[in-house]
Amino acid sequence: RAVLLSDYAPYPFEIDEVRLTFRLDPHATRVLARIAFRPNPAAEPSRTMRLDGEALKLLSALIDGEEVEPRLDDTGLTVDVPDGAFVWEAEVEISPADNTALEGLYMSNGMYCTQCEAEGFRKITYYPNRPDVMAPFHVRIDGEAPVLLSNGNPVHFGEAFAEWHDPWPKPAYLFALVAGDLVAHPDTFTTKSGLPVALNIYVRPGDEGKADYAMDALKRSMRWDEETYGREYDLDVFNIVAVDDFNMGAMENKGLNIFNSKYVLASPETATDRDYELIEGIIAHEYFHNWTGNRITCRDWFQLCLKEGLTVFRDREFTGDQRSHAVKRIDDVVMLRARQFREDNGPLSHPVRPSSYIEINNFYTATVYEKGAEVIGMLKRLVGDEAYHRALDLYFERHDGQACTVEDWLAVFQDATGRDLHAFSHWYTQSGTPRLRVLEEFEDGTYTLHFQQETPPTPGQDEKGPQVLPIAVGLLSPEGDEIVPTTLLEMTESEQSFTFEGLSEKPVPSLLRGFSAPVILDRATSTEERAFLLANDTDPFTKWEAGRALARDVLIRMVTDDAQPGPAYLDALERVARDDTLDPAFRSLALALPSDDDMAQALADGGVTPDPLRINAANRALNQKIAEHLSDVLPQIYEAMEVVGPYTPDPKAAGRRSLRQTALALMSRTDGGKRAARQFETADNMTEQMGAITCLVRIGEGADQLDAFFRQWDHDRLVLDKWFALQAGLAKPGDTADTMRRLTEHPNFDWKNPNRFRSVIGGIAGNHAGFHEPSGAVYEQVIDWLVRLDPLNPQTTARMTTMFETWHRYDTDRQEMIRAALGRLRATEGLSRDTGEMVARILGD
Ligand code: ARG
Ligand code: ZN
Repeated sequence: RAVLLSDYAPYPFEIDEVRLTFRLDPHATRVLARIAFRPNPAAEPSRTMRLDGEALKLLSALIDGEEVEPRLDDTGLTVDVPDGAFVWEAEVEISPADNTALEGLYMSNGMYCTQCEAEGFRKITYYPNRPDVMAPFHVRIDGEAPVLLSNGNPVHFGEAFAEWHDPWPKPAYLFALVAGDLVAHPDTFTTKSGLPVALNIYVRPGDEGKADYAMDALKRSMRWDEETYGREYDLDVFNIVAVDDFNMGAMENKGLNIFNSKYVLASPETATDRDYELIEGIIAHEYFHNWTGNRITCRDWFQLCLKEGLTVFRDREFTGDQRSHAVKRIDDVVMLRARQFREDNGPLSHPVRPSSYIEINNFYTATVYEKGAEVIGMLKRLVGDEAYHRALDLYFERHDGQACTVEDWLAVFQDATGRDLHAFSHWYTQSGTPRLRVLEEFEDGTYTLHFQQETPPTPGQDEKGPQVLPIAVGLLSPEGDEIVPTTLLEMTESEQSFTFEGLSEKPVPSLLRGFSAPVILDRATSTEERAFLLANDTDPFTKWEAGRALARDVLIRMVTDDAQPGPAYLDALERVARDDTLDPAFRSLALALPSDDDMAQALADGGVTPDPLRINAANRALNQKIAEHLSDVLPQIYEAMEVVGPYTPDPKAAGRRSLRQTALALMSRTDGGKRAARQFETADNMTEQMGAITCLVRIGEGADQLDAFFRQWDHDRLVLDKWFALQAGLAKPGDTADTMRRLTEHPNFDWKNPNRFRSVIGGIAGNHAGFHEPSGAVYEQVIDWLVRLDPLNPQTTARMTTMFETWHRYDTDRQEMIRAALGRLRATEGLSRDTGEMVARILGD
C-alpha cells in the first residue's frame, strides 16, 4: 500500500490537450472529458492505459469515438488502447454537495469550488493523476451561478456558461473551478514587459470591502517577483477566490488561486496585525508558486519540497523586504522550533524528501515546507547571493515547462557555481535535527572553536552521517565591540575546529548568527555571557537568542529546583525594555517567554520528564516576577507605544502595537486587568480588542467581555473563530475538559467547518497544560471528535492527530493514556487511510 520513490516510472502516455465540460448540479454534476493521448517516447510502450478515479459514476467511455468497456476498480480503471495516438472521451457523474472531504469538486455555502492538490482531481474525472503528466486545459462550465471560473484566460462567455483556456501545460493538481454568487474586487497590474493583467479577488456578498489589503499584497508580490527573481506573470487574468470551507491555507491553481477566506478577508475591525501579516505572506506564497511550482513543477510527490521549500523561502524573503528581516527571521525560527523541531524529534520525523508514503496529504508538513526552506537558505548562504541568483536564472531557463526532481535542482547549482553538492544533498534525505556541541579555547592570541555534530536516530534511520553546516560566527571583545564581523564557517565533518588569530584577549563568540543552520546548539554558557550578548550582540537573531536562552535556563531551574529568577536575568530584560533604540517589534519578541511546549521539549532534551502543570506554573510565576520587576517601565511603554489616528496595518504601527500589547499583558498580571478592561472598551480595531480580551481571559477574568465580544461578532465567522480559539487556548488545566465541552456544545460550533473545528480542537492542542491535564479526560474528548470527523474529512482529522506526536516525552501515566486514546481511534471501524497512517506512525508501529 505504500508508494515508494524508488518505484518511479514515467507514464506511458502524453497528453496534447484536455477538454472538460462541467454541467453543474449539487447532487449530479456531469463531467465530460475529451483527452488527446499519444505514446510517451520516454516510456515503455503500452497497449493498456491506467487512469485514476475515485467515487466516480462512469456513464460512458469512448476511444476514438467507439464505445469501450474499461475494467473498473476502487482506485480507477484500466482500458485497452490502440497503437499510436487516440482520443479518450468519458462522461462521469459526481455529487459536490455530498463531498465533505473538501477534496475534488465540493460545495461551500452554496458555491462550487475545487481542491485538487495532491490527488483530488481523480474525484472529478478519470485521469492520469500525477504531476509529471502535463497538458493545456480547455474548460466549459454550464451553470446558473453568476460567476463561473476556471484556469487560464476567459475565451467565451454567455447566458449560464463560460469557457476558459489555459495555454500553459499543467498537471491536474493545478486544475480549479469555482462557480457561485460572488462579488469581484477588481484591479489591474502591468507587467515589466508592459502586458496588462486583470486582477480580481472574489468574495461572498457582504465581504466586499475586505479584500483591499489582499489586493495590495498581490500587486506588491507581482512587482517583487519581477524585481528580485526576474519573473513576470504570464496570463491575461489572475483570479483569487475566498472560500470558507478549506482544509489548508490556500492553493496556487494556475491563474485561479483558491484561499481559505481567513487568509484573504481583512478589515481593521475584524483582523489583527498578525492576520494582515499572514494574508500578505500567503498571497505572496501562492503567487510565487506561479513560477516555482506551476511553470516548473514536481516530477512526483516525493519532490514536494522542490516547490514548497523554495516557495516558502521566497515568501520569507518577500516579507523580510516588506517588513523587517530581523523580526521575520526570529518569527520563523520560533515557528520552526515549535513545529518542525517538534516533528523532527518525534515519531513523525521524516526527511525533507521522504522516500515512501501511504497518503501524500500527510506529508504537507513543517519538515517539507519549513525545513525545506531552511535548506534553501543554507544553500544561498554557502554559494552567496550573486551565485544563488545565477543558479535560479539557470533553473528557470533550463526547466521551464518541466516536472523536476531535487537532483535537477542541485545540478543547476552545481553547474552554475562549480560547487560539489553531494555532501549537501544529505539535507534532503537524512531526517532528524543535528545537535551541535561547541567548546572554545584561547591561547596566545589564538581563539579556537571546536565543533562536534551528531544527529540522533529517527524512525527508519538509525545511522546518521554529518551534515554540511554553514555556521555564521562573529566575535565580540569583552568591552562589547565587534572585533570579528560575521564570518561563515563551513562544517562538513563530525568534528571540526576553526581558529581566529591575533586577538589580544579572549573574545565572546556570537554563534549561529541569523540561525544559519537548523540545528540545536548545545553550549554551556554562563548567565553573564548571555546577558552580555543580549546587551551587545550586533546580530539581531543571536541577540534575541541570548535572551531566549536566559529565559529558558531560568524556567528550567524554576521547574526542576523551585529556583527564583535572579537579578542578572531580570536586569538584562529591563535594559531591553528600556532601550528605545531597538525596534519595538524586536523588543516585544525579546520580552516574550518560550511557550510551555517549547519548555517541555527543552526539558525532555535535557533528560527531564516534563510536568505540564509545573511548566505552566513556572511560566505564570516568571511573568509575574517580570511584571513586578518592570513595574515602572511598563506603563511608560504602554503610553509611549500608543498609535494615534486611524488604524493602518503597516509594519511600523504593528510593531508598536505588539510591544504595547506585551506591556499590557505583563501589567495585567499585577493590576487585575484594569487597563485591559479599559482598552477593551475603547479599542477601535481587532488587534487591540483581541489583545485586551486575551489579557483578561489569561488572568481568569473577562467573562463579561467574552459575552460582549460574542454579541458584537456573532455574525462574523472569522471573528467568532477567534472567540472560540481564545477560550480553548487559555482554559485553565482544571477547567479545560469543561471548557471544551461547553465550546463544542455551543450552537455556533460548526464542526464540519475546518476553521471552526481547528479553533476549538487546535486551540486545546496549543494549551499545553490544559491538553495534558492529569486525568486524561481531554485526550479522550479530543479523540471522540477525531473519531467523529474522520469519516467526513479524513485530511483535517489526520492533520489534527499530530497533537499527540509528543507522547513519548511525558510520564508513563500520560503515555499510557495517550496510547490508549490513540488505540481507540485506530480501532474505529472504517478509519481513513489518512488517519490510519498517522496513528500508526505516531504509535511507532
Ligand atoms: N500547495 C498549497 C500551498 O503550499 C498547499 C496545498 C495542500 N493541499 C493538501 N491537500 N495537502 O499553499
Ligand atoms: Zn506552497
